[in-house]
Amino acid sequence: MPEPFSIPGTTAVVTGAAGGIGRALAERLLREGAARVVVSDLDPDRVAETAARLGGRAHPLALDVSDEAAVRAAVERIEVEHGPIDLWCSNAGIAAGRGLGDDADWDVSWRVHVLAHVYAVRALFPRMAERGRGHLLITASAAGLLTQLDSAPYSATKHGAVALAEWLAIRHADDGIGVSCLCPQGVNTAMTAGDDGTSATRLGGDYIEPEDVAESVVAALHDGRFLILPHPEAADYERNRANDRDRWIGGMRKAWARIRGAAPRSGTGAAGAAERS
Ligand SMILES: NC(=O)c1ccc[n+]([C@@H]2O[C@H](COP(=O)([O-])OP(=O)(O)OC[C@H]3O[C@@H](n4cnc5c(N)ncnc54)[C@H](O)[C@@H]3O)[C@@H](O)[C@H]2O)c1
Repeated sequence: MPEPFSIPGTTAVVTGAAGGIGRALAERLLREGAARVVVSDLDPDRVAETAARLGGRAHPLALDVSDEAAVRAAVERIEVEHGPIDLWCSNAGIAAGRGLGDDADWDVSWRVHVLAHVYAVRALFPRMAERGRGHLLITASAAGLLTQLDSAPYSATKHGAVALAEWLAIRHADDGIGVSCLCPQGVNTAMTAGDDGTSATRLGGDYIEPEDVAESVVAALHDGRFLILPHPEAADYERNRANDRDRWIGGMRKAWARIRGAAPRSGTGAAGAAERS
């Protein structure tokens, strides 16, 4: 369990912050009294526009989180310009590949959903450990706890993000560094704007707003919680999956058959709550 993280007066960085969950998170951190928030994303115009919209304590930074040299340079530059980074929200993400995906989908998903966090940790954790304080928030997904049927690259790399977050939380707590892992189900953002009746995520339950996710993050940071579940039902699904994996897979097969408009072959077991995730 990470130490509670107090937001007022801190310097935070949010990646993937030109829209969606990242922008809502940046906005909320500023409202909670962060001294400054570096708003970071790929496109310079989008980050400039977002920072301008969020006001004087928001600072734009164009950064590709999958470029390790760029991440290292960004950390150095932010700390020179603004002082120590207290909170890094490693939030950038992409939806690449339907079904099994091709090599390019796997490559970009691995780089953005897993290696990007590793790059941030390599650049940041030695600095945070020296100061004996700091916090990393990794935006994974409920896809990383359960199964996201639409995209294998997305689901598998988000599982990687959760595993990495756990590893870091265990290994670095004694350095004074807290780690939290954010695992929402569906959220109304640009990433999900195209979800329709063929989307398993869309059929998996109600979508919430990015501001609701930011609310959950602030509460979890305050309480010092590792796992952040803006959709509380995800905890039940995870428990069901752990209790009986075969039953879980059976339920998911039924859900998938419904999406395809087909009946599963017999012997799939009971669906249970698995069907809704
Ligand atoms: N929307 C959902 O339903 C949902 C559910 C669970 C988890 N998530 C995760 O939440 C995070 C935010 O996604 P969102 O829903 O706000 O979508 P979004 O598309 O609005 O935001 C993602 C942002 O990440 C940026 N990005 C992508 N690759 C990048 C890179 N290499 N370097 C820097 N920035 C990059 C994009 O430009 C984009 O602005 C992602 O990690 C996503 O996987 C989203």
